[in-house]
Amino acid sequence: MRDDIESILYDEAHILAGLDRVAAEVTASYREVDFTVVGVLKGSCVFVSDLIRRIPIPLELAFVSAASYRDGTQPGALDLRFFPSEGEIRGRRLLLVDDILDSGRTLSALSGEFLARGALEVKTCVFLDKPSRREAELEADFVCFEIEDLFVVGYGLDFAGRYRNLPYVASLRPEVVAQGSDGGVS
Ligand code: IMP
Ligand code: MG
Repeated sequence: MRDDIESILYDEAHILAGLDRVAAEVTASYREVDFTVVGVLKGSCVFVSDLIRRIPIPLELAFVSAASYRDGTQPGALDLRFFPSEGEIRGRRLLLVDDILDSGRTLSALSGEFLARGALEVKTCVFLDKPSRREAELEADFVCFEIEDLFVVGYGLDFAGRYRNLPYVASLRPEVVAQGSDGGVS
């Protein structure tokens, strides 16, 4: 995998420093209230597990699945699945956690769906924010790092289903991107 990498944007130490800051912000904002962290699969798996271990107040954990990247780096139709049970949503404060806020379509569709299913409040927390790519009107409540318009992998983010297990955030060599657009899932 290392041969496919063009450059490393954030190494592990840099990522963990960003996480400490965001975890402190989340902790301060939910100190007095019950809340549920809802990880958006698959991309948030690494971020959400590192994040919750830095939040020293009671929380519940749930997951929902959203897939949007059907052909490599371009977004396709949204596929929202595996919603938590009604009891885990209705009347609850939810913190949706995703790997990246890109066009904003995923998190705005999920927020709307959770509110329609009776959530009391829905906030959003993302590892990466690409504001230049926004289509939906949505700003995340908590952001680890803001990045330019560049396709990145690692720390949960994939290209065509691979590279989620890299412990750093990196860009791919253009030849790898050109070869590998065979259908990933976010
Ligand atoms: P949005 O719905 O356009 O905001 O995109 C959300 C999903 O697109 C994210 O959860 C990612 O799975 C995927 N995505 C967007 N940008 C990137 C990227 O640079 N690398 C890998 N996945 C990405
Ligand atoms: Mg994703």
